[in-house]
Amino acid sequence: MKKDLLGICDLEAADFEEIWQKAEKLKKDLRQGREHASLKGKTLGMIFDKSSTRTRISFEVGMYQLGGIALFLSSRDTQIGRGEIIADTARMASVYLDGIMIRTFAQNDVEEFARHATIPVINGLTDLLHPCQILSDLFTIKEKKGSYEGMKVAYIGDGNNVANSWIEAASILPFELALACPKGYDPDSEIMDRSMKELKSKISLYRDPSDAAKDADVLYTDVWASMGQEAENEQRKKVFKNFKINAQVLKKAKKDAIVMHCLPAHRGEEITAEVLDGEQSVVIEQAENRLHVQKAILEILL
Ligand code: CP
Ligand code: NVA
Repeated sequence: MKKDLLGICDLEAADFEEIWQKAEKLKKDLRQGREHASLKGKTLGMIFDKSSTRTRISFEVGMYQLGGIALFLSSRDTQIGRGEIIADTARMASVYLDGIMIRTFAQNDVEEFARHATIPVINGLTDLLHPCQILSDLFTIKEKKGSYEGMKVAYIGDGNNVANSWIEAASILPFELALACPKGYDPDSEIMDRSMKELKSKISLYRDPSDAAKDADVLYTDVWASMGQEAENEQRKKVFKNFKINAQVLKKAKKDAIVMHCLPAHRGEEITAEVLDGEQSVVIEQAENRLHVQKAILEILL
């Protein structure tokens, strides 16, 4: 049966280890110049309804390095943009391609696509979730800290797709997640309720970033306004003005804490330039690991 990656909850604890072990090997092979053409002749379609730098580059380069090819399909230039329905697109894509990655607005659309496709479907970000990001971020934490087990991750900012995927991960794996979000901008309530029930680790929600950051091993943030929320930009700047990682918040965390951001970042908004470009920031390696982890995901699914 084909397997999809539509959210972190599609995975069991053992799947994470399989992905990360492969990613570690792929990273080492690449660094040492060893070819790894495990997906020779395979094709990945990449449907983008939203902008992307990292996701597009890492999937495209990843497929190339594994011996396959990736096709960039902007919905503006395909018949999807002119109203061809998801079911037809999914059935048709399945006869040409070996897998598909989708970045779009509604999580339901990715799920509907997966129901009609006979090839694996990977969620490359929706308004609700960003599973590839968090799978890769946990790999970075393992690299930097030796393990995610027992670590405290503090997420400061909007209760958005990235926050929701962090919550799903914390419901499966044993690490502590402390979120600080302004009232009215909490993570998805269904994900929060479900994760609290299935809890493997401690998840808490604060209104003060300093409370979440206290003794944290990892400080994490993301933009105040996600793609699709541009009209709320000015309003959000007011609401979120205290929900940022700055030197003061960094001081609350452990001395050896690392700072993470999925990028793109807005210096001076959710994070100060001083912290983003500072010694504790691992954002560039974090972005690099998208490549290695997604190659592992592609190998497993395709
Ligand atoms: N973090 C991330 O997904 O970046 P892009 O939007 O550039 O793909
Ligand atoms: N929350 C951000 C993540 C970008 C990678 C967005 O959805 O725009």
